[in-house]
Amino acid sequence: MSEKLVYGDVGSEKAMDFEKTYGAHNYHPLPVVIAKGKGTKVWDPEGKEYFDFLSAYSAVNQGHCHPKIIDALIEQAKTLTLTSRAFYNNKLGKYEKFITDFFGYDMVLPMNTGAEAVETAMKLSRKWGYEVKGIKPNKAIIIVAKGNFHGRTLGIISASTDPVAYHNYGPFLPGIMKIPYNDTAALQRILEKHGENVCAFMVEPIQGEAGVYVPNDGYLKQCYEICGNYNVLLVADEVQTGIGRTGELLCSDYDQIKPDIVILGKALSGGVLPISAVLSSKEIMMVIKPGQHGSTFGGFPLACAVAKASLEVVQDENLAEKAKKLGKIFREELEKFQTPMISVVRGKGLLNAIVIKAHEGIDAWEICLKLKENGLLAKQTHQHIIRFAPPLVITEEELMESVNIIRKTFEELK
Ligand SMILES: Cc1ncc(COP(=O)(O)O)c(C=O)c1O
Repeated sequence: MSEKLVYGDVGSEKAMDFEKTYGAHNYHPLPVVIAKGKGTKVWDPEGKEYFDFLSAYSAVNQGHCHPKIIDALIEQAKTLTLTSRAFYNNKLGKYEKFITDFFGYDMVLPMNTGAEAVETAMKLSRKWGYEVKGIKPNKAIIIVAKGNFHGRTLGIISASTDPVAYHNYGPFLPGIMKIPYNDTAALQRILEKHGENVCAFMVEPIQGEAGVYVPNDGYLKQCYEICGNYNVLLVADEVQTGIGRTGELLCSDYDQIKPDIVILGKALSGGVLPISAVLSSKEIMMVIKPGQHGSTFGGFPLACAVAKASLEVVQDENLAEKAKKLGKIFREELEKFQTPMISVVRGKGLLNAIVIKAHEGIDAWEICLKLKENGLLAKQTHQHIIRFAPPLVITEEELMESVNIIRKTFEELK
């Protein structure tokens, strides 16, 4: 293939070959190479343009290379990047005030990846369980929901019910119990039995990786109330659902509750750096004392500047409101499709998915390939679900253009 390069210095075929040869095969990417991104669009090295309907798993809510975030990155990078937490720096405290005011919490513990923030929340919950609730040593239990996705560390995959995520990685972390998602009766039952030793119920307000499973209205609120009756912390993993994605700043806002602990990541940096955070009350957060938890990069000055700019963009551009409005239009448009291949359209805000009915051997992967040919990038989750999560900066016009691409793709597959 000797197609002329428009972006970068390596063509698509070669770039894929390099990854296959020198990189671990822990992913199975769609065969597309992205060389440039701007707003809702990305381009391959040969210059083909695509709508990005994955947004790096909802990390790029603010759109690719948002100028305000990139300016903040460059400005800070020229001044100071990393100090470690052995010293104070002039960015962290101000950022901590900013983010806690922004989300209405007392304190924040900054980390880097989503998984690290989840681990932090699990450690914080256990420590609170022993030191505040009075759970007997080594008896603390964290309850999770089946079908969850909280990340890839050993602690976290101990909570997974997906064999692909945990097979042959044992032995696993004890002290984790799993109940069905969207089942408040199951939560009530397990707390009646084990409540004394339970420190936390950790849950995604919508299960993203599982296939955008939206629970019943009021699920989280009921969980919060049940947990409250047993002095159990409600930990909301909003790594994917948070920061405007589902049409509210936090998805928990739909239930008008304030989880005891909120976990954020992904869009906290607009996709620019790995930045995550755990938010909570002073009472809970103060159980962690100096030296008991940390990370070399957590809360580094560059991250502080980028995260602040990223949140300001969400606010200044009303991205949550936009996601709510456009998400509704998007689902309505998809519902109109005349195809036997889609059995369900579901989602909230701009976190949406369609469930594919196997049709003459065509599965979600093949549909994603066809969407790619037609200029839209989406990725299947499991074999039969396709998630649609464009950057929240998408305009209504772009959204309708994308709907047309999806419609055309299904028509071609008939
Ligand atoms: C809900 C949720 N929690 C945690 C994570 C882990 O985040 P990271 O991949 O940054 O470790 C993810 C990633 O998809 C997620 O969706």
